[in-house]
Amino acid sequence: MAKTSTFLSPVFVVLLSLQFLNLSVTSGASDSVHETFLRCLKNQTNSTDELSKIVFAQTNPSYTSVLQAYIRNARFNDSETLKPLIIVTPLQESHVQAAVICSKQVGYQLKIRSGGHDYEGISYISENPFFILDMFNLRSVNIDLKDESAWIEAGATLGEVYFRIWEKSKVHGFPAGICPTVGVGGHLSGGGYGNMLRKFGLSTDNVVDAKIVDVKGRILDRKAMGEDLFWALRGGGGASFGVVLSYKIKLVPVPETVTVFRVERLLQENATDVVYKWQLVAPATDRNLFMRMLLQPVTRNKTLTVRASVLALYLGGADSLVALLGKDFPELGLKKENCMEMSWIESVLWWGDFDNGTKPDALLDRNLNQADFLKRKSDYVQKPIPKFSLNLLWKTMMELGKIGLVFNPYGGRMDEIPASETAMPHRAGNLFKIQYSVSWDEPSVELEKNYTSQARSLYSFMTPFVSKDPRSAYLNYRDLDIGINHHGKESYNEGEVYGMKYFNGNYERLVKVKTMFDPENFFRNEQSIPPKPTK
Ligand SMILES: Cc1cc2nc3c(=O)[nH]c(=O)nc-3n(C[C@H](O)[C@H](O)[C@H](O)COP(=O)(O)OP(=O)(O)OC[C@H]3O[C@@H](n4cnc5c(N)ncnc54)[C@H](O)[C@@H]3O)c2cc1C
Ligand SMILES: *[C@@H]1O[C@H](CO)[C@@H](O)[C@H](O)[C@H]1NC(C)=O
Ligand SMILES: *[C@@H]1O[C@H](CO)[C@@H](O)[C@H](O)[C@H]1NC(C)=O
Ligand SMILES: *[C@@H]1O[C@H](CO)[C@@H](O)[C@H](O)[C@H]1NC(C)=O
Ligand SMILES: *[C@@H]1O[C@H](CO)[C@@H](O)[C@H](O)[C@H]1NC(C)=O
Ligand SMILES: *[C@@H]1O[C@H](CO)[C@@H](O)[C@H](O)[C@H]1NC(C)=O
Ligand SMILES: *[C@@H]1O[C@H](CO)[C@@H](O)[C@H](O)[C@H]1NC(C)=O
Ligand SMILES: *[C@@H]1O[C@H](CO)[C@@H](O)[C@H](O)[C@H]1NC(C)=O
Repeated sequence: MAKTSTFLSPVFVVLLSLQFLNLSVTSGASDSVHETFLRCLKNQTNSTDELSKIVFAQTNPSYTSVLQAYIRNARFNDSETLKPLIIVTPLQESHVQAAVICSKQVGYQLKIRSGGHDYEGISYISENPFFILDMFNLRSVNIDLKDESAWIEAGATLGEVYFRIWEKSKVHGFPAGICPTVGVGGHLSGGGYGNMLRKFGLSTDNVVDAKIVDVKGRILDRKAMGEDLFWALRGGGGASFGVVLSYKIKLVPVPETVTVFRVERLLQENATDVVYKWQLVAPATDRNLFMRMLLQPVTRNKTLTVRASVLALYLGGADSLVALLGKDFPELGLKKENCMEMSWIESVLWWGDFDNGTKPDALLDRNLNQADFLKRKSDYVQKPIPKFSLNLLWKTMMELGKIGLVFNPYGGRMDEIPASETAMPHRAGNLFKIQYSVSWDEPSVELEKNYTSQARSLYSFMTPFVSKDPRSAYLNYRDLDIGINHHGKESYNEGEVYGMKYFNGNYERLVKVKTMFDPENFFRNEQSIPPKPTK
């Protein structure tokens, strides 16, 4: 042995051991990491029998199913993607504390996953050896109707939150995302918006308290953490600062009857007039009305065209909605028969694309273990796109072939909340947000190349029409094209690139909070906030 090692240069030895760490669980290196980690967890939690239920090494027969259960982008479900050495699935808060303390002790990066909906998968993948802290067991939703509030744990899904509110009250709701399997942990810490945003703002705007585990393993609530960190946890992304255990939210009032509609127009049916006018109306109309617009190239009668679909939620009845849009938006031609009146929880199911008649408890279903291949990007539009440019846009979309756009109107409550009120800065001055959206359902390197490059081409085409200096982006529409942090020497400069886009003028304050609470940068990922370098 000694003889062999004298033949190995020190560099080679280092490379070799890195290789082991990277590739193999059965290597001595990671065995000892695993053992040291387990020993530490035992010491921290005082329990041995429970540990077997919450610690999954790669050799555990359940490892793969635990890992895959919350992968929501099939692009990161392949065998080449580096897998975590260990997945920890806490059953109680003390397990989270132990996982933080012990990951730090063995020097491993800890990725935090709640609902797993990160578009770039960064809650469960990494380029370096890592662990996952998977929060799905911590998912209680405790409603206090008297106080019109609720404590919701990070591992709960939005569907669970909506369902539990509906069980208790038919006239309360919560303004958050449309997809019911999105997790509270990522969604609320990254802003979170849905079809009540124009009336009630972001999810984050309705958060009144939070509980986190910090880098020292302490549990802190709003009072204990202070207003700076509490500010950062509302839109700054939790994963830079600690593990969010739960949020306390304010419920909002919803009427017993709401109205939804979906109206579609092709270019041949004056879609351009509808889209142009939508830009003026959707961000300015009654804040009880949210009209999302989807734009997509489609083939009709063997002819390529573009379809504009307007999907709406109105917090009121159909008659007043038809009257409102007859006045504000005659180009849409909305008729009473396009409208469907229903309860708020039924509208949640309608927006979630469930079949008509589906019972609300479908919102509790989290065992999908199935997802499409996705690429998403985002932009903010601050002045209406002129008609002649829209015509160029249609031409570009038809040439590319698949990439679609989703326009989400701002205005209303969003214009009233100052950009510095929470860490999420995109407020007044923005007419709407664009999501670039492409999904496909078969694994293929060719398709992935084609579709991601369609997304990037369209993003490039849109440059003259969107926010600049910085070109802003929405954190919850994670997009690694706008910058990646490798956490080496350049970490601070790398952070500024995507940080300014996501957080604009709030970025500096986020860096200050990060530097105060996690100066060693334990809580980090591909787009986390870097601490200020010490020199
Ligand atoms: C199908 C689909 C529909 C969507 N619809 C909407 C929508 O309508 N509105 C909207 O605003 N967004 C929407 N999103 C985006 C979504 O809000 C974000 O992806 C969000 O971050 C997901 O949260 P998560 O807990 O499910 O994700 P995860 O992948 O678990 O986490 C996302 C990020 O948050 C971090 N994180 C997660 N949990 C914690 C925690 N407990 N403490 C600290 N950090 C944590 C992760 O480390 C990661 O960086 C959608 C996404 C998908 C895939
Ligand atoms: C066990 O935990 C205690 C405190 O919880 C700590 O002081 C001690 O160093 C730990 N021992 C080991 C071996 O990790
Ligand atoms: C573990 O057990 C010891 C001795 O019984 C006790 O002093 C300590 O507080 C316990 N720690 C935890 C985290 O429960
Ligand atoms: C991941 O791949 C497995 C097969 O290896 C499949 O069963 C599972 O449905 C896939 N999950 C997602 C989200 O793509
Ligand atoms: C399109 O606009 C023209 C001219 O205003 C009008 O005559 C026609 O009815 C419209 N078509 C549709 C489908 O609205
Ligand atoms: C497609 O063809 C049908 C039948 O000829 C016609 O009624 C319809 O208007 C056409 N649609 C478009 C978008 O051209
Ligand atoms: C659901 O079905 C019922 C009865 O078939 C119908 O009256 C109602 O309009 C439908 N609702 C939606 C949203 O399609
Ligand atoms: C890319 O996808 C489009 C459809 O979206 C298709 O028409 C085109 O042929 C594809 N290009 C390549 C190079 O595969």
